[in-house]
Amino acid sequence: MTTDSLDDFFRQCRQRCENQLDQILPDSSSAPLQQAMRYATLNGGKRIRPMLSYATAELLGYPAEHVDNIGNSIELIHAYSLVHDDLPAMDNDALRRGKPTCHIKYGEAQAILAGDALQALAFELIVKQHPSITATKQLEIAQGLGQASGLNGMAAGQSLDLLSEGKAVSLEELETIHRKKTGALLEASITLPAIACNADENTLKHLTSFAQNIGLCFQVRDDVLDIIGDTETIGKTQGADIYANKATYPALLGLEVAQNYAETLHQKAITALENIDQKTSRLCQIADFIVFRQS
Ligand code: IPE
Ligand code: IPE
Ligand code: MG
Ligand code: MG
Ligand code: MG
Repeated sequence: MTTDSLDDFFRQCRQRCENQLDQILPDSSSAPLQQAMRYATLNGGKRIRPMLSYATAELLGYPAEHVDNIGNSIELIHAYSLVHDDLPAMDNDALRRGKPTCHIKYGEAQAILAGDALQALAFELIVKQHPSITATKQLEIAQGLGQASGLNGMAAGQSLDLLSEGKAVSLEELETIHRKKTGALLEASITLPAIACNADENTLKHLTSFAQNIGLCFQVRDDVLDIIGDTETIGKTQGADIYANKATYPALLGLEVAQNYAETLHQKAITALENIDQKTSRLCQIADFIVFRQS
């Protein structure tokens, strides 16, 4: 995957990820659980997480197949997190990726179970690593996915996010929520491939800094898009955060300062890449996309 245009890279990564997820997921001709798993996953996500994994492999001189299962596992966890995020007990959203949410289509019980099964499938997949990755590294990678998904990451952040609805939270608390609920999986999309591709200590350190800044930037922009985006383009109900009284960056800082903060985080991410010897242009391009993305 070494074309210069970001659009081409995006297209290739997306295609690769879609094809593989299609194979990994169960046959949809069977029961509603299997159908719901496919519906929740193969419904047009941006695939930004696998893209970051492929870009990291490219930077470190490894082919895409070296990190396929890492990107795909993270995408399965992400798809599960969205199904649960949309449930009535959580954000209670009816629209996702421009279509009815999984629980609207299949009912709450099947949606909850589809999320559970997607998570289990992600862990089945992550332990099937490329044969050249040592067993020690495989364990480290699987453990990293657990941390990013669970108590040190997404699930913990989601819990704090819900607890903060309608409450006055500090900027520091909001940053913790965003870093956990969204930043952790985006960070893992870079650091786990970096481990798999034998990044040296210095490179891993600066890639981690890039990943943390761009991970937080991603959620700040998500908060901004809830206000300035339109429902058709973002594929989810515009204004849902305001309606639910969510703690968001625009709610705390105002829209303009929130977007400025996203741009500051983007700049910090780019600065971190300047300490890396390898060619970082692809990660720079993805970062540029993230900070001004429209959906
Ligand atoms: C949406 O993530 C949820 C957040 C973590 C902000 P994405 O914006 O990556 O959603 P898809 O996968 O492209 O639909
Ligand atoms: C979701 O954050 C983060 C997840 C872990 C799914 P949001 O609740 O803001 O995501 P959207 O806006 O519904 O996609
Ligand atoms: Mg949410
Ligand atoms: Mg939500
Ligand atoms: Mg949001």
